[in-house]
Parts: sequence; C-alpha cells; structure tokens
Amino acid sequence: MDELGQLDELMVCRLSNDHRKPAPCTIVIFGASGDLTARKLVPALYHLYGDRLLPEPCRIIGFARREKTDESWREELGTVLPQFSRTKPVDPARWQAFAQNLFYCQGDLNDPAAYRRLAERLTGFGDEQLARNLLCYLAVSPSQFGQVAEQLHATGLLRRDETPPFWQRVVVEKPFGHDVASAKALNAELTRFAHEGQIFRIDHYLGKETVQNILMFRFSNAIFEQLWSRQSVDHVQITVSEKLGVGTRGGYYEEAGALRDMVQNHLQQVLSLVAMEPPVSLAAESIRDEKVKLLKSIRPLLPQQVAQQVVRGQYFAGQVDGQACPGYRQETKVRPDSNVETYVALKLFIDNWRWSGVPFYLRTGKMLPLSASEVRVQFRPTPNVLFAAQCGPRLEANALTLRLQPNEGIALRFNGKVPGASTAVRPVRMQFSYDAEFGAYTPEAYERLLLEAMAGDATLFIRRDEVETAWSLVDTIRATWADTPLTNREFYAAGTWGPVAADDLLAAIGHAWRHPQSVTERS
Ligand code: BG6
Repeated sequence: MDELGQLDELMVCRLSNDHRKPAPCTIVIFGASGDLTARKLVPALYHLYGDRLLPEPCRIIGFARREKTDESWREELGTVLPQFSRTKPVDPARWQAFAQNLFYCQGDLNDPAAYRRLAERLTGFGDEQLARNLLCYLAVSPSQFGQVAEQLHATGLLRRDETPPFWQRVVVEKPFGHDVASAKALNAELTRFAHEGQIFRIDHYLGKETVQNILMFRFSNAIFEQLWSRQSVDHVQITVSEKLGVGTRGGYYEEAGALRDMVQNHLQQVLSLVAMEPPVSLAAESIRDEKVKLLKSIRPLLPQQVAQQVVRGQYFAGQVDGQACPGYRQETKVRPDSNVETYVALKLFIDNWRWSGVPFYLRTGKMLPLSASEVRVQFRPTPNVLFAAQCGPRLEANALTLRLQPNEGIALRFNGKVPGASTAVRPVRMQFSYDAEFGAYTPEAYERLLLEAMAGDATLFIRRDEVETAWSLVDTIRATWADTPLTNREFYAAGTWGPVAADDLLAAIGHAWRHPQSVTERS
C-alpha cells in the first residue's frame, strides 16, 4: 500500500468488526440442482471461503431429487465454476479444499424419509453446532416453501423455540408470491413453522455494494441531505435497464412480466432507500421501519390514473450492439400473442412532507441499448436571471447520479465556464469511481447476503410487511391492465430505449429521460 493508501486506511471508520465470523453452521440448499446454486450460491460460498469469511467449520448440503453422490455433485459444480466465478482463473487447490465441505442429499421435497436422511447427515458431522445451526436456503418454487418448512419442522430441523446459541433460519428467494394475497398466504404458511426473525427474504439488489452505499451516502454526509427534499429536487429518475432479453426464462417471464420481476422488488427497494427518512438507529428494524413507511407513503394509484402514470412496453425484433435480436413473442416458451410487458415506466408521488409534489420516475426494461442501473436526482433549475436568462433551457440544472452498476460511482453535474475569452458555460462533472478509489474488488451480492444471513443480521432482507406493501402498487396496475391487449404505441424495437409512450409520460410536464451513458460515451 502506498502512502496515500495508508492514509485512506487510517480514515476508515469501521462500524462492525469485519473479522467477526458467524458461528459454525450448515447451509442446506433445497433445489440444489437448479441454476441459482451453480451460478450464484456456490461461487459466492467459494469466494467467502477464499476470503476466510466462512465460519469454521461450515458444511454445505445440496438437497435435490436427482441421483448424485457427494463426489459427483462436487465435480459438476467444479466444472462450471470457472464460468460463474467473479475471480478468474479459479484456484484449483482452493476449490479442492472448499469442495470437501460440499455434500449431497438426494430426496423428494415432500418425502419425510429424505428429511430423516438429512438429519442423519447433520448429526453424522459429529459437531453440535453443525447439526443445530442451520441456514436452510429454499431455492425452490414458492409453492414449495410451505411444505419444506413443514417437513423441516416435523423432523426437528426447524424449531420456533430454539434456544441460543443455536439457531435455524430459512432463506427464501423471489418471487415471493404473485400478488398481495398470495404473499400474505406465503407469509402465513411460513410463520406456522418459523417466526419472522428466522425468515430471510432475499432481494439481491440489497446485497450490491452500491445499493448499500445509498444509506452511507445520504446519512454520513451533511451536505447532500440538506438538498434531499422538494425544496431542491425537481424530480428523480430510477433506471434499471438490461441489454438481454428473456433468453431461456420465457416460461417464468410469461407469468411475471417486468412489473412483478423488477418493479415489485428491486426498483421499489432502491426507491425506498433513496427516499426514506433517516432511521433512528442502524439497527435492522429501524432501517426496515423507515423503508416500510416510505413504501406506504407512495400515493396509491387509482385505476383511472394508471393509464396516465404507468407505461408498459414489449420489444419486437431489432438489434442490440449490432446483433439481430428476436422479438419477445418469438422467444422460447412465450405465447405468440403474449401481452406480457418487458418494459415498465411509472410516475409516482410520495405523499410526505419531504417529497410532496416531486415526481419519481421508475423504469426498467429488457433489450434496451445498455445494461445499467442508476438513480438520477435532478435538482431544480436556477431562477431565470443572469446565466439562465441568457441561455434559457440550454442551461442545465444540476444533477447527481448514483451509478449502481456498471462502472459503479457517483457523478455530480454542475455548470462551469468554458475557458477562453468568450463568456460560455457548459455542464461539467465531478466523478467518484469505485474502481479508482477502492480498486476493482466488488463482491457479488450473494456473498454479502449469505454472510449476513449466517450472522443473523436482517438489515439487508425484506420484512413481512415490506413485501406485502410492495405488492399493493403492483396489484393495482396489473388489475387495470388485466387482459387489455398492447397497442402499437406500447411496442419498442429491441435495442431502443422503450416505447414512445414512456417519453410522453415525462414530456407532459416538461421532463425528459436521461439515459445512462456507456463508459465510452462518458469518457
Ligand atoms: C432478477 C430478475 O431478479 O434480476 C431478472 O429476475 C433480472 O430478470 C435480474 O435480469 C437483474 O439483476 P442484475 O443484478 O443483473 O441487475
């Protein structure tokens, strides 16, 4: 580390002991043959192991229906790891050492005998902590959450009344239901066998460094928070754009659409962090209380407002990066007359003192020109005197952009004098880049989330009331769309920034989308 690096290190204020390790435990992955295990969970655990962050000892058991042995499962995962690992090349010695902790338990999710075999494997480790500290990761369909919890409970592997220091927790993946009613039903089912404190609902966006940084940025700096309200903010744009289409996930997507797939969870999570009030403490419940409060302050949409405030879209064949791409209706497992939305843009208002009257525009879509997630806080323009009087709308208003991914960082745009004899002004940028400041180390969201779940810290997970509140907005919109077919104005060519109706949504009050820029455009 150079001198400057050492100085930076001295300035770090650590809020938690980074070297705190969770107690020894076993992670049981249900549905271990699925994509998530090979793509995300095992690579994340491999990296945690490499960074010496996994508990010692720690065991991982894959539970699934297919016939496999410990050895064949290890081999299978080892073969695909190079493809999914964030560090390359994979270190074979490290993998070999890590893989000794992987075990496989074959069984059907509703077969009590399979859970008894699981229990035997756990006791077979010969360590009470490994047998009683359990992180049960349900990488299965939500319709199976209840039965897995019930079987675990019946086998004594999931106890509501477990006494510390032992613990059992259940981690569930989205989609958490498909509307308010089904989310409530799922919650009711799970809480029959585990209390709320044992249930960890994942939204992987909360595991992203840049998303966590939203709270740090807002509440560890004095200057921005002063500006963070309707006094200074004109409007806010939250964009999560993706270059890819639905690929092989057509079947799932036909049921979900962009609204359920992205808006119900990731976009509302980012919105709540951007707009919430300061929590009373950094405790998980204080933070989650504020997030729920914010979600509850979103002005409910009346059915007749949906058409004015929500735009949906679906891509047709086009080109992304010069490559021909099929239309959504031509994708595998998609109905040829599907009306499912692959794009959504919404205008929301938050009815509280801080944000009254400030539009929040949220948009997400597949097959857009760029994959990028960012929050743009657009400040009010200057009064129409001096430079503004001369330049008119060409004088840019200030903007602060939080680039969540890629090219993670923050940019502040303000105006400056163009050097030279003439009087000319143009926007310039002040940039913070994660890469330049901290180096290229960006852990995968799942690394952080798994670690927090093992440590029992629920801050980065979604609480019961949070998930239910987040569904209500989505439900109203879906009910309004019902089976109405898409109109021509709602289609967009793959490789463009969505349907024209989305531009009109902003233009109606003199706003315009500011598209994320690619790294090359920016430099
Ligand atoms: C998932 C959605 O939750 O998030 C996907 O199901 C989407 O459709 C993905 O592609 C986006 O996540 P990220 O981390 O790539 O922005």
